[in-house]
Amino acid sequence: MSTTLLKTRRLVAHYGSVEVLHGIDLALSDGEIVVLLGPNGAGKTTLLRAISRLVSTQGAIEYDAVDITGWSGARTARAGVGHVPEGRGTFVDLTVEENLRLGSLARPRDQRVRSREDFALVYDTFPVLAEMRGRQAGLLSGGQQQMLAIGRALMARPRLLLIDEPSLGIAPLLTRQLFEALARIRNEWSISLLIAEQNARLSLDIADRVIVLAGGRVAAAGPVEEFRDGDVIKRAYLGETDGGAEAIGVKK
Ligand SMILES: Nc1ncnc2c1ncn2[C@@H]1O[C@H](COP(=O)(O)OP(=O)(O)OP(=O)(O)O)[C@@H](O)[C@H]1O
Ligand SMILES: [Mg+2]
Repeated sequence: MSTTLLKTRRLVAHYGSVEVLHGIDLALSDGEIVVLLGPNGAGKTTLLRAISRLVSTQGAIEYDAVDITGWSGARTARAGVGHVPEGRGTFVDLTVEENLRLGSLARPRDQRVRSREDFALVYDTFPVLAEMRGRQAGLLSGGQQQMLAIGRALMARPRLLLIDEPSLGIAPLLTRQLFEALARIRNEWSISLLIAEQNARLSLDIADRVIVLAGGRVAAAGPVEEFRDGDVIKRAYLGETDGGAEAIGVKK
């Protein structure tokens, strides 16, 4: 039996007086890749931000069997929850290597000694970053910046990595490579991934399980096989995207 790494119960989030997550129950096991699908405005970003304690919530969030609901974002990050935000958030004036070094600062001080080894692992995972280590991040392509953002999060040695729309603005071939790299990372680093995506077709290739959000609620959830075939409802929850959503349906 795999152990549960993350669990939310009746998770509710508001922006001002507007409730946007209406009681989310989810669980994620150690080493699992879960893809979070759903149309624009479904609440995917808010759910990731809630888990990494960047928005306040009601309900319970347990990480590694501890209730982290009262924790700050910084404490949650130090405990091993990495977050690659929508829009990546790389420091464009800093070099690739400097961006990566900043990532290693997110881990507890006593664990920073291994960062040389971590650089090697990140460069091994994304060789293009090694080639461009001295270049300003702002001069990288969108796809390279996404790899950098993920690499930076990995430098903190997370146990759980939340990634918000990694394929956004990236060509399908590069997206495929990115997802393959994520699958390798999961295997080699034994971490868990929760990936918010609109590109269902490519993301399902590496997913173990799928959760579909719609209107701030879990509309469907299950093993990835259930979302590849069977009685599926195309576009039902995925909305109109240019990322291949038509290739996949969602079981009701
Ligand atoms: N900072 C904010 N202030 C007020 N409302 C917000 C804010 N951010 C998001 N919302 C609203 O919360 C709801 C959920 O948004 P969220 O960004 O979590 O959705 P999403 O699934 O990530 O969408 P997308 O696919 O477009 O990224 C939407 O109705 C959105 O308009
Ligand atoms: Mg979003």
